[in-house]
Amino acid sequence: MAQFELIPYSVVESLENNLYRLASSDFGRIPGVVNELRKLHNTIVRIRAVFLDANEIPKRYSSTSVWLRNLKYQLLVADDFFDEIATESLQLKRLDCGKVCGFFSCKNGFVFRIQIARKIEEIRKMFQDPLKKMKFNLDPPVSESMIYRKKTHSYCSPTDIIGREDEIREILRMLRQPDGTHNVSLIGVVGIGGIGKTAVSRMVYNDRQVNDFFQFRMWVDVSDDFDVKIIAKTIINLLGSWSNPEESLEILQNGLRERLDGKRYLLVLDNIWNESQEKWTQLKPYLMCGAQGRKILLTTCSTKVTEVMEISSLIHLKSLTEEDSWSLFKSLVFREDDNHPILIHSLEPVRKKIVKKCRGVPLAIQTVARFLYFKRTESDWIEFLEGDFWKRGEQIDDFNIISSLEFSYQHLSAHQLQQCFAYCSIYLTGQEIEKNELIQLWMAQDYLKYLSGGQEMEDIGNEFVNALLNIGGSWQ
Ligand SMILES: Nc1ncnc2c1ncn2[C@@H]1O[C@H](COP(=O)(O)OP(=O)(O)OP(=O)(O)O)[C@@H](O)[C@H]1O
Ligand SMILES: [Mg+2]
Repeated sequence: MAQFELIPYSVVESLENNLYRLASSDFGRIPGVVNELRKLHNTIVRIRAVFLDANEIPKRYSSTSVWLRNLKYQLLVADDFFDEIATESLQLKRLDCGKVCGFFSCKNGFVFRIQIARKIEEIRKMFQDPLKKMKFNLDPPVSESMIYRKKTHSYCSPTDIIGREDEIREILRMLRQPDGTHNVSLIGVVGIGGIGKTAVSRMVYNDRQVNDFFQFRMWVDVSDDFDVKIIAKTIINLLGSWSNPEESLEILQNGLRERLDGKRYLLVLDNIWNESQEKWTQLKPYLMCGAQGRKILLTTCSTKVTEVMEISSLIHLKSLTEEDSWSLFKSLVFREDDNHPILIHSLEPVRKKIVKKCRGVPLAIQTVARFLYFKRTESDWIEFLEGDFWKRGEQIDDFNIISSLEFSYQHLSAHQLQQCFAYCSIYLTGQEIEKNELIQLWMAQDYLKYLSGGQEMEDIGNEFVNALLNIGGSWQ
């Protein structure tokens, strides 16, 4: 399932509720504890202020930040702790013990007070570091390409792509061009998130002439991190297995040199966002040992990357034309084997609207198409096209992948479904999620509890997974 780096706001919410419940119960009347609870509550409110605006997270913070991951983990730990105390306190109340010292199995009320106040203080301090980071926003703004990531692959079918003939022709020409004075020819495909850089590169990679021209073709997705060792090892493995247990950078670099020596190769580095010149210079010399005619094709959203990497041949991918946008939209909503109740000829009045609003970004078109595919009446379509989501999109200069994600997120029908979606963010980028395990985790968080009616919670969980897969098809 997709990686969508949101803080699970339901956890923040639940934590805040638990603190409130405790502070207003007998527990909160324990001297020393109430003060700590209040301070911690203030801290959580500050965190919530930032993180409850789920749409802000991808824009303001890097999804790979260790501190952000830690924060998520800490929130879960704190929530579990207070959940346990709240339950314990409730049970004691039911038993009419009048006391809440059972949690630490402590007979001595004074020691108990100290212990619990310390524990709360400890939890509060745990949040100090992330709070500082949030305040000063130490991480660079997140690149669009980091929001989602399942590893990209080189496979494609010719029907995958609409338009782009000129760009593909131009890249093919560049690939066949002799190296000239360059040690290694670098070709950059640049454009905003979701515009089709990977799709175009795939078409080129699979072109028959390209296949005939190069001895080796290699596809490496570098979206997670520009890690020289990982890239070197991936390339080595693509050229034959690597049996050397030694994996120092030097050994890997030499392995790379040996394997590439004298070969005419095409290497695609997909989704580069890292702007570090230093890392690139560590890798570049070892990619140069191939024969004349070796080429590196890279895709990136950032023109700074192309400057740092000193790429001379650039292809800027612009928006799809109005006609191509409409063809793509139609091909996704009105599949040949499908009888969609909305008649295509009745769509002329909305055609311009859809195309204009998606701004020729294929990912946006896909997202809108997938959404409208499930809307079965014309009034639903009109309601959607005139809805609030667009107001937000129109304020953004580049309609990019973030907007597409925001779109899907905001249109998840139920609050509980949003919670379940947000919860997926605790998984790491590229990590596979086992469906049943995820449903169990949702159940443990009580996300499915109030929806069950007569239905089994597992069945609702299954429906939720399917709903998320449907709505999020473009970044799974
Ligand atoms: N010309 C096109 N015709 C049909 N579908 C397209 C076209 N271009 C892109 N797509 C589809 O749109 C989606 C986004 O495209 P792609 O992943 O290539 O964008 P990208 O520019 O590489 O994005 P990112 O910067 O996030 O890596 C993909 O599902 C892709 O198959
Ligand atoms: Mg891409």
